[in-house]
Amino acid sequence: MSPIKDVIKSNRTDLNPIWIMRQAGRYLPEFREIRKKNQDFIKLCLNHNLASEITLQPLKRFDLDAAIIFSDILILPYGFKQKVEFKKNFGPILGDLNLQQASKVTENDFIERVKPVYEAINLVKNNVVTKNKSLIGFAGAPWTLLVYILNKKSPKLNLNENFFKDLSLIKKTLQIIEKFLKIHIRNQINSGAEIIQIFDSWAGLLDDQDLDFYLYNPTYSLVKYVKSLNVPVICFPRGIKDYKKYCEIIKPDAICIDYEIDPIKIKKEIQIPIQGGMDPKILLADKDNLKKEATKYLDIFKDHPYIFNLGHGVLPETDPNMMDYLVKTVKNY
Ligand code: CP3
Repeated sequence: MSPIKDVIKSNRTDLNPIWIMRQAGRYLPEFREIRKKNQDFIKLCLNHNLASEITLQPLKRFDLDAAIIFSDILILPYGFKQKVEFKKNFGPILGDLNLQQASKVTENDFIERVKPVYEAINLVKNNVVTKNKSLIGFAGAPWTLLVYILNKKSPKLNLNENFFKDLSLIKKTLQIIEKFLKIHIRNQINSGAEIIQIFDSWAGLLDDQDLDFYLYNPTYSLVKYVKSLNVPVICFPRGIKDYKKYCEIIKPDAICIDYEIDPIKIKKEIQIPIQGGMDPKILLADKDNLKKEATKYLDIFKDHPYIFNLGHGVLPETDPNMMDYLVKTVKNY
């Protein structure tokens, strides 16, 4: 069994596996090289050969324990025919959701549109570089997808003024999201994904009284679905105030924490395997400090099932040598 799965399934505390969110991305010159020649980000995600090559890039450099498929959470709305574009130095821009059109998209239509993602997973799975490593598939959580689909761009600090106005639109949109999330996750698993991570990047935007409807209920249903397929599920509700309550309600197999969380406190509160936590900015400083911070997390979680990762994606300005040093520090612990 790959070390990450062993931590999740058998609560092992002696393995110290590591993977990094956004490990395939802009901090790597070999990614930027491909990206320069492929200006359309969605098209790049849907090029199975390049997507598989990009996925493998970090594993060829560093002794990581997982590959995470190079794709994006916004492939989902693309699959049900919402327009999705990525603008340089701005981020994603989506078109208006056409509910009528989206509800007519069949399972086969969707698969036909996003099939290269599954083909890329298959290529990665069959590459020797991923032997004894976990292959992680992923999706956005229903709430975070709803945010992008209705807000049509990253919310940064606030949502559009009338975001919550049309409850009927929200309910129908959540139904569509749920339907296609299940299809997308099932197909990733059938193509070789062995673990699923659910990214709820905007969990921190909701007021407490809205959590049940927008976050807990739809996420619980999705997590239950992934578990029914016998695949471990890691949840990352970035910025949520109460991780303990989240775990009690959602019951993921492992929880990924963000960098605002006090690791000592969370270790006492949560029994399930924990992933992540270290601030990505630490990789921008010097090696001594990086070693000190990484060792701090490893020390704290010495007797708790723990998967080393950051508390959010690796920053584009990170020096790949610092990543190398981090992976070696964790492996030599
Ligand atoms: O290595 C990995 O982690 C796998 C690949 C991956 C990408 N996006 C590739 C990507 C994963 C897991 C995602 C998830 C994702 N996408 C999330 C959840 C995680 C998070 O960051 O909170 C979100 C919110 C998105 C939506 C998204 N995609 C945004 C907001 C942006 C633009 C942000 C920016 O920094 O400009 C993207 C683009 C994106 N997705 C890039 C990569 C490598 C950068 C694309 C580029 O080269 O310009």
